[in-house]
Amino acid sequence: MIETDYLVIGSGIAGLTFSVKIAEKFPERTIIIVTKANEDESNTKYAQGGVAVVLDTEKDSFNKHIEDTLIAGDGLCDEAVVKMVIEEGPKRLKELLLWGANFDLDAAGEFDLGKEGGHSEYRVVHHKDITGYEIERALLKRAHQLPNISILPHHFAIDLVTNHHIIDDNSKVLSCYGTYVFDQKTDNIFTIKANSTLLASGGIGCVYGHTTNPIIATGDGIAMAYRAKAKIKDMEFVQFHPTALYEAKGESSFLISEAVRGFGAYLRNKSGHRFMLDYDERAELASRDIVSQSIDSELKKSGESHVYLDCTHLDMTEFKKHFPNIYNKCLEHHIKIESDWIPVVPASHYLCGGIEVDKNGSTSIANLFACGECTRTGLHGANRLASNSLLEALVYAHNIFKFHSENDYNATNVLIPDWNDKGTVIPKEHILVQHNLKQMQALMRDYVGIVRSNKRLKRAIKHLDLIYSEVEELYKESKISTSLCELRNMVNIAHLIISHSLERTENKGGYYNIDNINK
Ligand code: FAD
Ligand code: SIN
Repeated sequence: MIETDYLVIGSGIAGLTFSVKIAEKFPERTIIIVTKANEDESNTKYAQGGVAVVLDTEKDSFNKHIEDTLIAGDGLCDEAVVKMVIEEGPKRLKELLLWGANFDLDAAGEFDLGKEGGHSEYRVVHHKDITGYEIERALLKRAHQLPNISILPHHFAIDLVTNHHIIDDNSKVLSCYGTYVFDQKTDNIFTIKANSTLLASGGIGCVYGHTTNPIIATGDGIAMAYRAKAKIKDMEFVQFHPTALYEAKGESSFLISEAVRGFGAYLRNKSGHRFMLDYDERAELASRDIVSQSIDSELKKSGESHVYLDCTHLDMTEFKKHFPNIYNKCLEHHIKIESDWIPVVPASHYLCGGIEVDKNGSTSIANLFACGECTRTGLHGANRLASNSLLEALVYAHNIFKFHSENDYNATNVLIPDWNDKGTVIPKEHILVQHNLKQMQALMRDYVGIVRSNKRLKRAIKHLDLIYSEVEELYKESKISTSLCELRNMVNIAHLIISHSLERTENKGGYYNIDNINK
């Protein structure tokens, strides 16, 4: 067993920002970050568009950003949270700059601000089209300079340790004492005991198979919190990004940033019609839920597999300057953006719901905090405004840091039993994990996608129950492997998405059920 003051699960923007802040303020305290892949692997690393923050106060204002966020969230945002996050934005961005993150400047030396769907003003700071890569680089560099932070890559958090595990537990409050960790290089499982545990484990995109997210996005933190009986909310609000590059065989999809539409690109159907004008007066820059639902409707009408993003009318010198990564990726796929339309299709991208937290990032379990994409803060409501996610992670990491600075954390001195895997065996039939994974992803894609119906949701939950039983059986009899734990977590997440969907009787933002029309 290892003991630490702070245990952080995840090394994206949320986990790293909190760790850096607490390590700088308390050099005598220890922070352990466990992360299941290479230390930089995260949704953060792939963020393209940027961070939405009000800097140009002549044209823009906090009120305009608040209004845009509330409109995108379709009536379900927590207004106090929206105000707090947006007003904190400039201060939190300044810290990122101090840690060495670089953002693009215009000819006058001011931030070159981009625009994305649902934003009424240019307010997105970015580093070309690889903003997340730059943020992750700067945060990791700073974290490595701080000797009280230890990063453990290729360490997989399996389950949270709570009262349920404790020998002779007589506390009345449900509390977290750390986590069981699987060392992927040695297959060793050990306990990390912590005074305070932060889940910063990111998103769930892989539950759908076809996603803009990297393969680490399997909802582990939300599933762990759910099994530990933390409150989970708004899981029906899965955001589908309208413009993932269409690849006939592809599962994991390269993103064509919304900032490309902010730069003036048009969406067209196969016959060349600029169809978004038929759906919303903001056309390509309507909020993400509306654009994705409109594309879905076009595809259902035409029977086609994708629509197109047309950039051929844009200034290519400027385009290449702003979007070099996207330009080159398209070239690799033999798409010349100056002359070819880019084939695009919606893909699962972001989860607006998650572990319910208050403004200090506290969950419903004592000593357990959560930050970033795994949380439901109330900022996004039914649909997240583009580029508000990195902002949310920065602001909440700060709030959690502040809360820890003002409150002492000393977990009770409990006796945690070691991980017990007596009687389990190395599974011989890996095909069972793969088969169940493919079945679950197909089910989520076909029955729980952009447009849902009660019949499809009920069918989905029935099929998922069978997958759940098989996976639980496998889990009980097998030695731990990352793929089996991830599958178990994704099945929990799929269950939450479907059951929360069935509870929602009104269409809002990213949730659209044909049985709720006219309600
Ligand atoms: P992540 O960055 O995903 O980090 C999660 C970490 O947890 C990873 O290190 C992972 O390995 C680790 N982890 C997970 N499970 C375990 C486990 N069981 N054990 C140990 N470690 C674990 N948002 C914006 O605001 N602006 C954008 O421009 C933007 N562009 C995007 C583009 C793409 C392609 C994608 C996929 C997302 C984009 N987003 C954007 C969303 C945004 O990037 C994410 O919501 C945000 O980065 C999430 O940060 P995070 O720290 O919460 O999680
Ligand atoms: C994008 O660049 O389109 C992604 C922005 C986001 O998800 O906020």
